[in-house]
Amino acid sequence: MTNPRKVLVTGASSGIGRASALALAATGASLVLVSRSQAALTEVARDCARLGGSAQIVVADVSDAAAVAGAFEQATADGPLHGVIHSAAALAYGRFEQVPAEVFDQAIATTLLGTANVARSTLSIFRAQGERGSLVVIGSLLGKIATPYMTSYVTAKWGVHGLVRTLQIEARATPGIRISLVSPGGVDTPVYSQAGTYLSRHGRPPPPVDPPEKVAAAAVAALQHPRRERSVGIANGIVVAGFRFLPGVFDVLVPPLMRLGGLTGSHVAPTPGNVFEPQPDGEAVRDRWRRWGRQRPPGDRS
Ligand SMILES: NC(=O)c1ccc[n+]([C@@H]2O[C@H](COP(=O)([O-])OP(=O)(O)OC[C@H]3O[C@@H](n4cnc5c(N)ncnc54)[C@H](OP(=O)(O)O)[C@@H]3O)[C@@H](O)[C@H]2O)c1
Repeated sequence: MTNPRKVLVTGASSGIGRASALALAATGASLVLVSRSQAALTEVARDCARLGGSAQIVVADVSDAAAVAGAFEQATADGPLHGVIHSAAALAYGRFEQVPAEVFDQAIATTLLGTANVARSTLSIFRAQGERGSLVVIGSLLGKIATPYMTSYVTAKWGVHGLVRTLQIEARATPGIRISLVSPGGVDTPVYSQAGTYLSRHGRPPPPVDPPEKVAAAAVAALQHPRRERSVGIANGIVVAGFRFLPGVFDVLVPPLMRLGGLTGSHVAPTPGNVFEPQPDGEAVRDRWRRWGRQRPPGDRS
């Protein structure tokens, strides 16, 4: 795909999905914005129009296969869909046995089965359009390593990586359909404060922290120039090597490092966060974390 004309973005109301929608709008693309929050999507659609793009809003829960199919039907009612960026995900922090089973299950339904739902609808539309189109899935460094207190997320993201790699192999039979994986490390988005937590603490992005716009740029580039995988984060390679080749050392180091760099200090009551329902007041492109983990003062988005 050389010119992204119509692109559907899931998770478009916040973080990387929202930054991707805005980056595409600035190129004049026509966007289909998907998430569960009408209010936040309306704000994003306004920003897209201001940047020179156009945007249609579709409220849908990615864990609901019928709702996802309906979203793609609306997206293609007036012409073909050229690309999809799938960014939606949700998670809950806590030791595995502390996280209520229904919260764990819904986080998996959103992050893993939601990816399967979006991939199924995407492939069916791309095939019907003459086997053409570009799908970009946002994976994670945590699709390749493990860390404590994030079982729903690690389990789902390992599944997402397995699903995408398998789809890439199957898609070799249809060369016009391209599938890319973008795997970020820590990114300054609201995902950490929006997540459920049963640990008395919120998560935070472990340093080095990248801005969501950098991951969005990689996703938009992958739409146009598909790649098996684009990793975003200077430390990703060394962390994955440590996990694979020095597992004993990794397992000793990761719990204290997680408590130090992956969790906030302030007390939080147990909450499912945005796992079951959206929290539009907390949605934005960025949150408040600088490169090496210090917080920006309120209102500073530099
Ligand atoms: N931030 C990081 O450090 C980081 C690192 C590696 C990978 N990632 C990945 O990057 C992607 C985007 O994350 P982010 O950091 O941008 O998070 P975010 O700011 O919390 O955005 C998540 C988006 O997913 C949507 N969403 C959540 N549950 C949904 C559901 N059931 N149905 C439809 N939409 C749903 C949210 O909208 P509603 O709640 O309004 O539906 C929101 O638009 C995710 O795949 C995440 O795993 C993030």
